[in-house]
Amino acid sequence: MSDQDEIRKSVSDAYGQAIKKPADKGCCSGSGTFSSMAGYSAEELAALPKDAVGNSFGCGNPLAMSEVREGETVLDLGSGGGIDLILAAKKVGPQGKVIGVDMTDDMLALCRKNIAASGLQNIEARKGIIEKLPVDSNSVDLVISNCVLNLSPEKDRVFKEIFRVLKPGGRILVSDIVAKDLPAWAVINQNLYNSCVAGAISEEDYLQGLAKAGLKNAAVRDRLIYDAAMLQSFLTPKLSDEGASCSCCAPPALSDSAREKITAQLAGKIWSAKIYAQKP
Ligand SMILES: C[S@@+](CC[C@H](N)C(=O)[O-])C[C@H]1O[C@@H](n2cnc3c(N)ncnc32)[C@H](O)[C@@H]1O
Repeated sequence: MSDQDEIRKSVSDAYGQAIKKPADKGCCSGSGTFSSMAGYSAEELAALPKDAVGNSFGCGNPLAMSEVREGETVLDLGSGGGIDLILAAKKVGPQGKVIGVDMTDDMLALCRKNIAASGLQNIEARKGIIEKLPVDSNSVDLVISNCVLNLSPEKDRVFKEIFRVLKPGGRILVSDIVAKDLPAWAVINQNLYNSCVAGAISEEDYLQGLAKAGLKNAAVRDRLIYDAAMLQSFLTPKLSDEGASCSCCAPPALSDSAREKITAQLAGKIWSAKIYAQKP
């Protein structure tokens, strides 16, 4: 197994584990902190299958500023439990199509269950890695993704794949974690990698990577910089539907003191960004 495959396996194991908890103890069950941090409205969440919301591990709402149109084909990279697939499917309508790609079997099973519960017919969840998408070239109008590209050990491959599958004029709008000046101890920590911290690149590297793959007008459209309290929330498993905190991504198993140390050292260095680009 290559080093990259080892990293993908560790990430996949972490997300397979993360959804093996009681359905009503999901990480992001729609309580105030999560929805406002992620940018979903309470109404949007209320209309979704409970298990799609309760097993959401995103760090934004990529559809919030996407201007997705009826009839379009949308591709979600690392679609997880399917929250954004279902939201996108409602927006593109019955003439449109939504495809999700994820590498984790348990996540795909959960996603397919949530798609069935939504009653929508225009969504397909495919197994695959985002570095080699099981999607035809020039077939997608809009690529979305929520907190996933940071988890890829081969981001340039992902950027090239996004370029390949987009139709000419197609767009990408992703919510993802980006970072600046992470300390060396954090970058080599696999638990922090799986929780969307250690693999995060800078905004500059993100925009350059997209441009190098051939995409134009790459820009950061929005950002939410995590202060210490938000970072604490990000790294804390959510235990109660009433709790104010919600972890996004797979939260690492940390003692309170370790979490406090990490929070103190990383506050202001990682944030959620909404990144746009277009295929010429
Ligand atoms: C942080 S979760 C986000 C899930 C979903 N986007 C959401 O907002 O709830 C990351 C998801 O991406 C998937 N994933 C991570 N790296 C991947 C890769 N290289 N190829 C395919 N799927 C990947 C994981 O299996 C997991 O379901």
